[in-house]
Amino acid sequence: MLRRLHPEQPASFAFTPANLDWAKAQITKYPEGRQASAIIPLLWRAQEQEGWLSRPAIEYVADMLGMAYIRALEVATFYFMFQLQPVGSVAHIQVCGTLSCMIMGSEDLIKVCKNKIAKHAHEVSGDGKFSWEEVECLGACTNAPMAQIGKDYYEDLTPARLEALIDEMASGKTPVPGPQNGRYAAEPLSGLTSLTEHESGRHQYNAAVGLAVELGDGIKRIDGTEVPLTTPWLDAPKAKKTAAKPDAKPDAKPAAKTAPKAAATGEGKQPKALRAARGGKADDLKRIEGIGPALEKLCNEMGIFHYDQIANWGEAEVLWMDGNLKGFKGRVTRDKWVAQAKLIGEVGMDEFLRRAKTNDY
Ligand code: FES
Repeated sequence: MLRRLHPEQPASFAFTPANLDWAKAQITKYPEGRQASAIIPLLWRAQEQEGWLSRPAIEYVADMLGMAYIRALEVATFYFMFQLQPVGSVAHIQVCGTLSCMIMGSEDLIKVCKNKIAKHAHEVSGDGKFSWEEVECLGACTNAPMAQIGKDYYEDLTPARLEALIDEMASGKTPVPGPQNGRYAAEPLSGLTSLTEHESGRHQYNAAVGLAVELGDGIKRIDGTEVPLTTPWLDAPKAKKTAAKPDAKPDAKPAAKTAPKAAATGEGKQPKALRAARGGKADDLKRIEGIGPALEKLCNEMGIFHYDQIANWGEAEVLWMDGNLKGFKGRVTRDKWVAQAKLIGEVGMDEFLRRAKTNDY
């Protein structure tokens, strides 16, 4: 396939300030003189920000890395993961058309894309929201047919389910990725025949889906504020500086080991915190959709251990939590933690989990 730059190009490109910080931090991973090694992550970030790679974006990244434009163009045009033409503002749908998926009905999925999005691959739909293409095997053959949408895999698809997914995304939702036919992961359709004590019942989602739900950035554009920099070698000196702050009161008592963390940013009111879980047993906060292991740990460090604590938050507490979840700001509102926690209290865990599958809360 001939991969060329799109005939219509924007006038310019620039990373958002947060993405620029992220990009500069990536470059520090490589030794002096080898900055060009950061080309793929930087191009990828540019694509995550805009949805596709324009010529100004490729040249902007080349300038950052001190590379000749042609070298950056070679990379961008070689890898199919880089979109060289505008994509849908909501999602670009990549339907696998290789053997297993074809046998299991990918051609019908492509028909859905043609009817619902646009007649041709890489063409943006009339409302500008979607685009699609057929891709080679994405390595999820056991759950064929499947499609990658944004960063996530939607598996065990049927034409009807793909149509419904597109409608849900068009209405602003991010449907839960993974198997769409009730399978937990890639176990036999008829159920497990070995390792039957596998802990699938203990977690709402399999590991990949759980992480996708926790991160929640599947189809959205990335402006850089969603994730921490994860460059500890750059963060360490800052941390030291903070520790040595001269205005710390000399007689201040060290915080108790189990004391909740103080507010760092944000308005609102810090929710009532517990020093430890009641009866020594915390609720499994991961049952709340959108809370994964990292967020659960953060909540526990803030003195939040139980569903009823979350259920009792008012607007002020939600505002405070949203502003203080480092790296996960805004998740309480976005994932409706309070409504979920209330529902758990009202209908019990089993009914809650049943409703959570359809976002019925
Ligand atoms: S054939 Fe479709 S994922 Fe492998």
